[in-house]
Amino acid sequence: MRSFSAISRSSLETRGWGKKLGRLLLKGGEIIGLTGELGSGKTCFVRGLAEGLEVGEEAWIRSPSFTLINEYDGRLPIYHIDLYRVSSQREMEELNLREYLFSEGVSVVEWFDHLPLKEVEEYLHVAFAYANGNKRKLTFTAYGNLYEEIITGLRDDKRSRIKGFKG
Ligand SMILES: Nc1ncnc2c1ncn2[C@@H]1O[C@H](COP(=O)(O)OP(=O)(O)OP(=O)(O)O)[C@@H](O)[C@H]1O
Ligand SMILES: [Mg+2]
Repeated sequence: MRSFSAISRSSLETRGWGKKLGRLLLKGGEIIGLTGELGSGKTCFVRGLAEGLEVGEEAWIRSPSFTLINEYDGRLPIYHIDLYRVSSQREMEELNLREYLFSEGVSVVEWFDHLPLKEVEEYLHVAFAYANGNKRKLTFTAYGNLYEEIITGLRDDKRSRIKGFKG
């Protein structure tokens, strides 16, 4: 499956989607690109993703929010990269993004649309859009086979929840 959308009704639910995705990341080297307006829920989702990769809550709370790249040690190394304030090509180069993106760790990038690297061909895109009230629409799109499998995993998880406790 290539693409899949879900509505989140609260920050907890968005975090829950991040957690589900985190649990499905098994290999290392995965790239997750997040886009969406300010306050649309990207960081909230990353927090869940870190949980799904077994990063301790304290590590998350300790991490400075102004840092462009935060590293966590979970089941896999995680690089949380925020490109909002990065504008010039020179600043981008100084961040050595390739070292993170093409490493054994999971890279999750906020403002992924700011990334100038054409060599990133395979990744999972998660788009965040405001809907009514506290609702957000999350759209997952896979670029590459690995990510198609992951999206199928997310969808199956949703189905089994909807079927609920009847089993
Ligand atoms: N359904 C929802 N999903 C996620 N966040 C929600 C939702 N409803 C309300 N919120 C609130 O919206 C805000 C989302 O903030 P967050 O920092 O995750 O956004 P962001 O996309 O990372 O923004 P930025 O581009 O500034 O980094 C939080 O204050 C959160 O409580
Ligand atoms: Mg953010």
